[in-house]
Amino acid sequence: MRIENAKIIAALRELDVELRSSSSLAELTSLAIGGTTDLLRVKKHESIPGLLDLLDSHGVPHRFLGGGSNLLVGDGELPWVVLQLTSPKPDVLLEGNFAHVDAAADLGRTVTYCAKHDLGGMEGLIGVPGTVGGALRMNAGAYGMQIGSYVREVKLYRAATRQIEILRGHQISFEYRHTSFAPDDMMLAVKLELPSKPYKEILQGIRICNEKRRSSQPLGQKSAGCIFKNPPGASAGRMIDELGLKGLSRGDARVSDRHANFFVNAGKASAKDMLGLIADVRERVHSTFKVELEHEVVIWA
Ligand code: EPU
Repeated sequence: MRIENAKIIAALRELDVELRSSSSLAELTSLAIGGTTDLLRVKKHESIPGLLDLLDSHGVPHRFLGGGSNLLVGDGELPWVVLQLTSPKPDVLLEGNFAHVDAAADLGRTVTYCAKHDLGGMEGLIGVPGTVGGALRMNAGAYGMQIGSYVREVKLYRAATRQIEILRGHQISFEYRHTSFAPDDMMLAVKLELPSKPYKEILQGIRICNEKRRSSQPLGQKSAGCIFKNPPGASAGRMIDELGLKGLSRGDARVSDRHANFFVNAGKASAKDMLGLIADVRERVHSTFKVELEHEVVIWA
């Protein structure tokens, strides 16, 4: 979608929002799949309510992009513009056991920065790509921990009130890969409370998680992490593997040979290829195991 209205363009400049025309979403997502649209880069949280009023009053549909690491975007010219926060510097401020982190901060760098200051707890998240805001929105987790356990406050733009608000940890529910945030709420910043731990000890935990991940996941390939959520008490990866579907392909979309719940873009896969593969695998799992797998990856198609 193109923003061509001169009034909107002037208002964006006033709000200090950068307009990048015709950006490729394939370049902004870890799957490297997705068509083009205008990208609006937001430099100040305070400009968000005005920006959304502007877009809504002109009937411009929009989506909010985090790190693009858990996202499958449709092909071609996309029917909405994309908003993305830019990260301030510094994006993490420490105060005792609290870390104040901007939503646009890189998750891995945040975990490492906190570790260097003897704040642990998030070792399991070390290899998870994406932003802190993205991890927060879907309660990212790995190796027995999830980010929600450490959240004390969240600053967000709330779609329901059209304002920036602060929520306390107890006002938010964090479940397996799910939170109580509304789909169009925007994560802006978070206050985490992390346990004190010597850096060396945290580093050891990080190394163990890295090693486990390297041995079981296709880290060097273009993917969006796990495609399906694990159903209660079962593993989507194991079920897909048991059906012998590793290596199954549609065009360049392919079920990873290393981990069957990772679908990789082995070249120039389209969203159509990837969606077809996802639907096919889901159908086969259903027909054998009578389980309806739920998408873990967010789909904008
Ligand atoms: N397994 C297979 N074949 C495979 C993959 C897995 O038999 O191709 C078996 C494994 O041997 C193991 C079991 O399935 O016995 C579980 O596998 P794994 O430990 O790799 O964990 P997972 O349940 O597949 C979950 C998360 C990952 C997270 C890992 C580590 C989900 C959907 N996945 O995977 O998160 O990294 O645990 O904690 O919750 C993600 O969210 O994108 C993601 C990758």
